[in-house]
Amino acid sequence: MLNSNEVREKFLDFFKSKGHEIVPSAPMVVKNDPTLMFNNSGMAPFKDLFLGNAPIKFPRVADTQKCLRVSGKHNDLEEVGVDTYHHTMFEMLGNWSFGDYFKKEAITWAWELLTDVYKIDKSRLYVTVFEGSAEDGLGFDQEAYDLWKQFVPEERILRGNKKDNFWEMGDMGPCGPCTEIHYDGRSDADIAKIPGASRVNNDDPQVIEIWNNVFMEFERKADGSLIKLPKQHVDTGMGFERLVRVLQGKQSNYDTDVFKPVIDKLEELSGHRYKPENENDHKKQLIINIAMRVIADHIRAISFSIADGQLPSNTGAGYVIRRILRRAIRYGYQSLNLKEPFMFRLVPVLANQLGHAFPELLSQKLLIEKVIREEESSFFRTLEK
Ligand code: GLY
Repeated sequence: MLNSNEVREKFLDFFKSKGHEIVPSAPMVVKNDPTLMFNNSGMAPFKDLFLGNAPIKFPRVADTQKCLRVSGKHNDLEEVGVDTYHHTMFEMLGNWSFGDYFKKEAITWAWELLTDVYKIDKSRLYVTVFEGSAEDGLGFDQEAYDLWKQFVPEERILRGNKKDNFWEMGDMGPCGPCTEIHYDGRSDADIAKIPGASRVNNDDPQVIEIWNNVFMEFERKADGSLIKLPKQHVDTGMGFERLVRVLQGKQSNYDTDVFKPVIDKLEELSGHRYKPENENDHKKQLIINIAMRVIADHIRAISFSIADGQLPSNTGAGYVIRRILRRAIRYGYQSLNLKEPFMFRLVPVLANQLGHAFPELLSQKLLIEKVIREEESSFFRTLEK
């Protein structure tokens, strides 16, 4: 079984072999863009390349981008911890074509990587294509449909509406129709009872989107209209934590080696166990599990933010981070009976786990610990009052 670092490496190596330049993640915190506080997707740092406002140095690029979805158009905060597959901070694996290849290569390579390299069971994969939108004057994406037909039986190629299959970064900006790849991770017995096609995009925690391939052709203007971009581009985003879960055969992102070390540490600090809820202790165990997931998720958002130079504060992005930190502390305090600072103790575990891919966690470890510890001490004093 691949560990998470190997999964990331394989993605980057694959696209390198297809002529892509591998670039480091941009910071998670965005400066100088009034429409965005944090990078909410892999494409956000490349916005100006899509719009034709910046020169294209490499027409093909691949990376893993640190993203945060806690505000604005893409906000997953309320789902985090309650379910097992949304996160505040997550890595988005992406391959990019800036005016170079388009649908054919993107779809062919996505399939090749998932089924030949990662060897995911083809019969568990579903794809969706854009059905069109009268409102925007756009038709069905026949081209993507026909490309998928080479690989996927038609009953597993589904049509999706604008909400699911037309990707937009925000209210304005580059956008375009997309094709998503979903994985059905249910048991064979459940699959025999209910076909996966009806579970796609239906909030089934075991039938989840893993990869979105966006065909950027338009720009949404402030008045809501669409104009054609000077070039056609590809923007793909694969949720790293979800991919690892699929490849490690787990039913929850938190059971993978991306989160497990932090959860182990939380068990040690709190004396509580992270384990499946059963009939007798369902409610009690669920409260513990949700708290542990929230904390294991939030420590990443906070640590990466501080490593990127955004400290908790009372305004703007700093306030978002402070609120995430306080949310995690409250869960620890109320559900895990943690009555003194504990979040800072998770930082070395995280740095150890992710420091290879993101060296800033190692180089800034002491600062991250110190900032979190101070924030925690002062918030614990407030909680005690
Ligand atoms: N930009 C594609 C996505 O975030 O899904």
